[in-house]
Amino acid sequence: PPLAALINADDFERSFEKYGPRKPWAYITGASNDLLTYDANKTCWHKLWFRPRIMRDVKAITTRTKMLGQEVTMPLLIAPMGIAKTAGDEGELALGAGAARGGIIHVQSTAASFSVEDILAAVPKTHPYFFQLYVDRNRKKTEELLQRLETMDQIKAIFVTVDLPVVSKREADERVLEEQKVSLYSGDGVTNKPDKKGGGLARTTGGFIEWQLTWNDLPWIKRFTSKPIVIKGIQTAADAKLALELGCAGIVVSNHGGRALDNAPATLLSLLEIRRDCPEVFTRMEVYVDGGVRRGSDILKAVMIGAQGVGVGRPFQCAVAYNTNGVEHLCDIFQDELETAMRLCGVTDLNKVRGDMQYLNTSELD
Ligand code: FNR
Repeated sequence: PPLAALINADDFERSFEKYGPRKPWAYITGASNDLLTYDANKTCWHKLWFRPRIMRDVKAITTRTKMLGQEVTMPLLIAPMGIAKTAGDEGELALGAGAARGGIIHVQSTAASFSVEDILAAVPKTHPYFFQLYVDRNRKKTEELLQRLETMDQIKAIFVTVDLPVVSKREADERVLEEQKVSLYSGDGVTNKPDKKGGGLARTTGGFIEWQLTWNDLPWIKRFTSKPIVIKGIQTAADAKLALELGCAGIVVSNHGGRALDNAPATLLSLLEIRRDCPEVFTRMEVYVDGGVRRGSDILKAVMIGAQGVGVGRPFQCAVAYNTNGVEHLCDIFQDELETAMRLCGVTDLNKVRGDMQYLNTSELD
């Protein structure tokens, strides 16, 4: 369908399901085992209701904010996703260029289809970038990668993903027995070893991820980078506290979009647990959340709980089928939905309602 016919984030996934190739569709939209965490991520946002305030002047509003010191048009990240060429030939080049047009930041995956140099070349020089790091079992490779990134001023932070020490069982991805042709999709970070456990693209490309990574390795990572470190994949207040104590700049509350441990809690529940048990995390670090965010109103909810911003994954990967224009169009949709939700809630500046739970009713989640 023409891009203009796509009017919300789910439309991008539905369109890819209908018209996209089977194997990439199974890889991109799939999740672990019984999809319990995948489903819960979404339905929890649906159960969080607003307490709108009325009769306020909502003509002039702003969605602008900062992420790790970087100015953005709205608090939305394109979550890191591997091998974006599965969705379209431009892959991460479209994600980067589309994010720049939308004024938001793309977090590039270690497992990208292009090298970081090629991706940055597709983005205006002044536009900030974040890099997602999977530590390699061959630690020398990680050291070299971090040293390479250290020379790139455009990359403003390193997001270290920690929720996937082993790639999980993704049954849709394993059932579609199309020839894998991983080499078609892979950039310099991707290992390409066929996996004995099923035929999933995820298990084929993710076999390099270090499974012996611990909190004690943070000083080792810091030796090779001066950029702020954000831990992606925090799911409990206890771990959020550890990240804070160890001097991280931020965390992403994430369960990998339901693609890691099935029956892990919905990220909204983890976010609320951290707020309840360790509220200082929100004032002393930047807290991000991803998983099932599909509406501008979900962004507003996350900010009201105290998040600095949210990440969105699958819909953006599916937007790559429409190249840069698709990614930009999805940014526009989120921008419009966020502004509309703010006005209808009586909110004119996100930075004034961050952490202000008086706008939220959590009774269906209690
Ligand atoms: C991911 N995710 C991910 N995370 C990461 O840190 N490094 C990666 O390489 C990938 N790869 C990846 C590929 C694909 C196709 C998907 C869908 C996801 C997880 C991603 O960053 C994010 O946590 C979730 O996608 C958020 O959930 P939603 O928005 O997709 O529901």
